[in-house]
Amino acid sequence: MSRRDDPAVWNQVVVADDAVVTQLKDGIWPSSSSSAPTVMARMIAALRLEPGMRVLEIGTGTGWNAARLAALGADVVSVEMDGDIAAQARANLRNAGYGNVLVVAGDGEHGALDHAPFDRVISTAAVRRLPFAWVEQCAEGGLIVTPYTGEGHVDALLVFTVSANVARGRVQGNAYFMPLRGHGVPQAEQRATESHDELRIEVTKEGQHLSYGERQSSTG
Ligand SMILES: C[S@@+](CC[C@H](N)C(=O)[O-])C[C@H]1O[C@@H](n2cnc3c(N)ncnc32)[C@H](O)[C@@H]1O
Repeated sequence: MSRRDDPAVWNQVVVADDAVVTQLKDGIWPSSSSSAPTVMARMIAALRLEPGMRVLEIGTGTGWNAARLAALGADVVSVEMDGDIAAQARANLRNAGYGNVLVVAGDGEHGALDHAPFDRVISTAAVRRLPFAWVEQCAEGGLIVTPYTGEGHVDALLVFTVSANVARGRVQGNAYFMPLRGHGVPQAEQRATESHDELRIEVTKEGQHLSYGERQSSTG
């Protein structure tokens, strides 16, 4: 659906507080979207941004969230895996007056080493394991905000604090996002997962360590 074909319906979709799917994989599965505005606002609030901060965003999509970060005074580098979507986001951002946002086409799992360090990292795709590259590229005392679907939680919004190359994260509400490519959880496993809001995750070079109450587990 395009603005040209049906401006009234297009406008309804744009102003609604819902995610707007903008790409389907195999004609069925959503593979890119513009996230719901209030969810993005919650994630940006969790970032505790200050003007001038350097922000790494993973999953540019339409560029909408990157534009909001730039409007708050952040210096934004955004990584998008799909080359066509990255090119469209660059055009969207330029047309909206945010040509200063740098959109990099590539696998965000590796961050954006050439542009590190970052004061903040925000992912708009859900992780199962927090990539250590994001921890390494985050400045001392920096924050990483990401949706998480994996062991211990189906749809957590995690906020990590980085210190001495270790990221320590806890749940700050819910956020259900499409997975970062390569991080999808098989549906049967996802259905079997219970959500624990007391989940804590610690990420080091060696891997990810989960704890909640008495139980603990680690993955490399
Ligand atoms: C929910 S959408 C992003 C919404 C977007 N931030 C916005 O403002 O419209 C998730 C995006 O993450 C991208 N993505 C998925 N895996 C990725 C990866 N490993 N590296 C970079 N981008 C990825 C998808 O192609 C998709 O465009």
